[in-house]
Amino acid sequence: MCGIIGVTGRADALEMLLDGLDRLEYRGYDSAGVALSTEAGTWRARSAGSRSLADLRKLAEAAPPAAAGIGHTRWATHGHPTEANAHPHLDCTGSIALVHNGIVENAAAIATRLVAGGHRLTSETDSEVLVHLVEAHLGELLGDPTGSGAAGTGSSRGVPRGSEPDTAHGPAPGSSVLGEAVRRALVEVRGSFAVVVAWSGDPTRLVATRRVSPLVLGTAAGGAVMVASDVPALLGRAERFWTLDDGQVAELVPGGIVVTDVAGAPAQARPLEVAWNLEQARKGGFPDFMSKEIAEQPQAVADTLAGRLTADGTVGLDEIRVSPDELRQVDKVVLVACGSSYHAALVAKFAIEHWARVPVDVDIASEFRYRDPILDPRTLVVGVSQSGETVDTLQAVRHGRDLGARTLVVCNVVDSSMAREADGVLYTRAGPEIGVAATKTHLAQLAALQVLALHLAQVRGRLDTERAGRLLAGLADLPSLVARAVDRAGAVAEVAQRYRSVRDVFFIGRHVGYPVAMEGALKLKEISYVRAEAYPAGELKHGPIALIEPDALVVAVATRTPLWEKLLANVEEVRSRGAQVVLVANDGDEETARLAQAVLWVPRCEALLSPLVDVVPLQQFAYAVARANGRDVDRPRNLAKTVTVE
Ligand code: AGP
Repeated sequence: MCGIIGVTGRADALEMLLDGLDRLEYRGYDSAGVALSTEAGTWRARSAGSRSLADLRKLAEAAPPAAAGIGHTRWATHGHPTEANAHPHLDCTGSIALVHNGIVENAAAIATRLVAGGHRLTSETDSEVLVHLVEAHLGELLGDPTGSGAAGTGSSRGVPRGSEPDTAHGPAPGSSVLGEAVRRALVEVRGSFAVVVAWSGDPTRLVATRRVSPLVLGTAAGGAVMVASDVPALLGRAERFWTLDDGQVAELVPGGIVVTDVAGAPAQARPLEVAWNLEQARKGGFPDFMSKEIAEQPQAVADTLAGRLTADGTVGLDEIRVSPDELRQVDKVVLVACGSSYHAALVAKFAIEHWARVPVDVDIASEFRYRDPILDPRTLVVGVSQSGETVDTLQAVRHGRDLGARTLVVCNVVDSSMAREADGVLYTRAGPEIGVAATKTHLAQLAALQVLALHLAQVRGRLDTERAGRLLAGLADLPSLVARAVDRAGAVAEVAQRYRSVRDVFFIGRHVGYPVAMEGALKLKEISYVRAEAYPAGELKHGPIALIEPDALVVAVATRTPLWEKLLANVEEVRSRGAQVVLVANDGDEETARLAQAVLWVPRCEALLSPLVDVVPLQQFAYAVARANGRDVDRPRNLAKTVTVE
């Protein structure tokens, strides 16, 4: 998740860009950059690191005057957070600049074709291929038969400012040659994008388009026209706002916006009413980051899966830097993690053992190295950590490495300490998570670990393509299933209101439902300060059931996993002792519902994937109870987002 912005029609375009990037920094802060379009050419400045925006302001002191420009603040998903990978990216001529938010799934194939066509790519990112695609199509539209744009000439190409292109080959009426080049370029792209393009060949025009990733347009008196990833960057600057539909192309020129559809025909942007202050806008209109991040979960899962489920029924994980041959030699997997990441690892154990038939240990990271674990080069130690900085997990991964094991981390932060030290990395792509309680990063971890399990199974010959195709289809359905669960926050909040004064809650589950119960208990205790403990439902009769008394609240994960019937028997045990029962149950499952005082309904899916869906109402339940008790859900007491102490 990155922040992009574009401004034209303002003499102080650069100041607006820098101020807008400050406001978008919560969308990502690995690096930042701006590019200005002038008659003399395109001027660019970029900076990477924790002070990237401050450093960019210093660099901007050398900028030429310009009335148009684009900017970007980055959350790395492909390529290290370095200056070379920072946006804006330039084409070979240095005259076209582009900023991108999203994931180009077919970047490698496009890059191969571009390089063969004479283009020079200078970064590790997927985004850079976009600016070279625009260059190639612009070259064709301007009559360059090679179609490779002005690759290598270094000169600023393009039609004189404001002149119309050759419409015999060029764009539909109402669009410029740059707009048509952007449209044609992005038709070749698989994946998600919001892009803004500037070109010194038409220096006051910006072209913006999107698919899945967000984009907001704004206009103000005096001719200023703006575009940004979302509203915060434009608040107080724009007076009117619009959004674009997927595939629509907006061409911003001083005083106006020309919108065309995916075919290049005239179209209309959709007016957007904005009644937020800046703080509200950063939260996208949500009351806090946690509720916003719960709502972002479908996108976080979709982005994490993007490009990893190939159309031919295989799982593509080349980027993990642990080869199929090495994975075939693995005879044990050890997952090490803390908190919500530990719960994700517990789910992964089921998936890896079931699909890959490799024995899996799951350890609390802070205990792992003190149990004198038996590791060797055939062990794969997998650290699961959204921050990639949790010292307990980092030390556990290091211990595995020191004992000769291969190490892999599943992580949400590119170039984090764990990512740098492990042999391989599988990145989640949830974007920055501001709320202390893990939500979208937890789901992204569950998705990434499922993909890892299938990859292990495939490279070890445990999964034929037909069965893999079916499983990958199940994975591909997850974003929409998670979205359906997310959309039920209101119904969950009603149930939570009934129990807002509860002081003690039991969470129970079986099979993959038990880690889900553990995550539900953690969410409730860490943001509402209500005592909540999770138990394997079959374990109640071995002691904990002594705690059940009339009106005790028991939340059970009762979706159709393989042990569903046994789980229901455990629910009967607590009901017979007077407990209040809230059940997470599959849509339409009235047989289960009859046992409950309240049901948190979820759509049904493959049992091993069900934690991604079943955990959502438990996040929402914890959130609603915490809010009803006036808790600060984003910054709960005693906690930090990343625990960098042992
Ligand atoms: C979960 O809501 C908490 N924020 C905490 O348990 C967290 O999952 C744990 O500290 C691990 O963090 P990591 O994923 O960054 O390693």
